Amino acid sequence: MKAVIFDLDGVICFTDKYHYQAWKALADRLGIYFDEQINNRLRGVSRMASLEIILERATQTYSQEEKEAFASEKNALYVELLQQMSPADLSDEVRETLNALRAGGYKLAIGSSSKNTKLILSRLGLGDFFDAISDGTNITRSKPDPEVFLKAAEMLSLPPEECLVVEDAKAGIQAAFAGGFSSAGIGEAAEHPNCTYPIKHFSDLKKILL
Ligand code: BG6
Ligand code: MG
Repeated sequence: MKAVIFDLDGVICFTDKYHYQAWKALADRLGIYFDEQINNRLRGVSRMASLEIILERATQTYSQEEKEAFASEKNALYVELLQQMSPADLSDEVRETLNALRAGGYKLAIGSSSKNTKLILSRLGLGDFFDAISDGTNITRSKPDPEVFLKAAEMLSLPPEECLVVEDAKAGIQAAFAGGFSSAGIGEAAEHPNCTYPIKHFSDLKKILL
């Protein structure tokens, strides 16, 4: 193994609550039922695919134009909420583990569905940290499609077999498997049958890799 490709939301940082608040505000305005359980289904899924999941409960249908406006409305609120994030939101455990893996000679990359990846990394003080960033802005197909991880491996000039994907979403483990990557899964991702290394804590990566 020569590199580690990290999912962002739910692995490096915790943006779930901001996604939830922003989607909840939109759903309330539209009179659509939405709760934390439905929010869990949005993990790893692109913005438009997330909106489709929320609209499953809608009593009317919406045009593509309206859907795009809804997604923009949600994102504007989400981006506003992200302004609360700071380097203090990067846990000591994540910071220390990333540094140990880098010292161990691994290339470190991001593979995230989010189009806000660069903004989030800069809020966390990690704007220049990673060797490659593959995110929602350079893909056409969202997880469980492997595209985002394949692009990250390509940016690192490494084959998938030499990269470990770290994920918190089942869709992400499925994507890693489909692309020929081994994976480490945290939380619900650890339960996926295709997860190579189920882990409890981010720092367990050191046991796997060092
Ligand atoms: C993923 C999140 O990282 O990014 C999803 O887990 C989110 O919940 C997706 O929908 C897209 O994010 P964004 O920031 O492009 O709306
Ligand atoms: Mg995630």
